Amino acid sequence: MQAAHVARHCTEPAAMISAIESTEKLLSITWADGHQSQFHTVWLRDNCSCSDCGDHSGGHRFFELGDMPETLANGVTYTKNALEITWQADGHVTTFDPAWLRAHCYSDRERARRQPRPVTWDATLTGQVPQIDYTKAQSDEAEQLKLYDSVKSHGICLVRNVPAHIDATEELASFIGYVRETHYGRIFEIVSTADPAVIANAPVPLRPHTDENFREPPPGIMVFHSIRASEDGGGASVMTDGFKLAEDFKTLYPEAFDLLTQVPIPHRRFIEHVGLRAEAPVIKLDYQGNICEFRLNERTMGPLDLPENLIEPVYDALSKMFSLSYESKYHMHHLLLDGEALVFDNARVLHARTGFNGHRHVRLTHVGRDEFYSRWRQVRSRLNGDINLI
Ligand SMILES: [Fe+2]
Repeated sequence: MQAAHVARHCTEPAAMISAIESTEKLLSITWADGHQSQFHTVWLRDNCSCSDCGDHSGGHRFFELGDMPETLANGVTYTKNALEITWQADGHVTTFDPAWLRAHCYSDRERARRQPRPVTWDATLTGQVPQIDYTKAQSDEAEQLKLYDSVKSHGICLVRNVPAHIDATEELASFIGYVRETHYGRIFEIVSTADPAVIANAPVPLRPHTDENFREPPPGIMVFHSIRASEDGGGASVMTDGFKLAEDFKTLYPEAFDLLTQVPIPHRRFIEHVGLRAEAPVIKLDYQGNICEFRLNERTMGPLDLPENLIEPVYDALSKMFSLSYESKYHMHHLLLDGEALVFDNARVLHARTGFNGHRHVRLTHVGRDEFYSRWRQVRSRLNGDINLI
């Protein structure tokens, strides 16, 4: 059998094995940096990536769990560069690169290190929003990585020095993913008009909201590209961290918080040729109870379709959440200048704007979160050599 995991970082203490202990159920590894990992033998057998068992990360998996031996007694040997397990049930041999094993250690400490919690923020982020230089990013992957990392940690990044020209909108979007086309087309022009079809094109202030919750999935990573700022200094972008709102909401109203993580809130857009409807809770939690998505939009919310006993409590919870989201202490302000763009995660960051009286032109487009984070993993892997990217 062949070692399919590529050997990397084998001279780093974190990837060097000091000692191992093995039972039928568990392999314990002490690493040269002192960290201890426990790997279940069922996990080790499953993650064999020899040519017979296949490469899981590439999606070419041949081993089937139904073929897992009942008894996983094993013999283990290791050298500096490889850990070899012979499975006594059938004599199959699995070889691991120690660096790969360390990168996939699932102790609480290593899992927390790999997946840092988002950095939540409020109005004090005004003037401090993470930013990158577009010109520099075109030839410098480290600058690109700053954009991806900022959206991952803060949900938002300001991009400076984008040409204030319509050709640059899709160019910027192609940098971070593939434009998702909708009934609006590829680009939505936010310009003030005398008879606007949607409220975004009236020069009025807009309340904080996430966009188009009536889609499944809703728009992922948004791009607001400013072609022309309003002459009167109005039309500032007002951004709110939904994760911060959800955290504070949990402290203030724990029962209402639970409700908003559970009940689906419908959103609809029924206009000519369009009949969109989707529903999701305001707050999505991961399996460990961490806040991982936030969707709120008072304008597109449809009639609640819930059991009778939930109607009043859900209205009460929603009302409290809308009120909280309208508090200025959560609102980061940024007036987009000509040739600036905001890139932000629509599953977390709410946007709004102040009113204006000039000729403001912002172009809006969005790309999928999957493709955005695919680029992030690729660039990060190239620059940092990361083996395991969540
Ligand atoms: Fe919007």
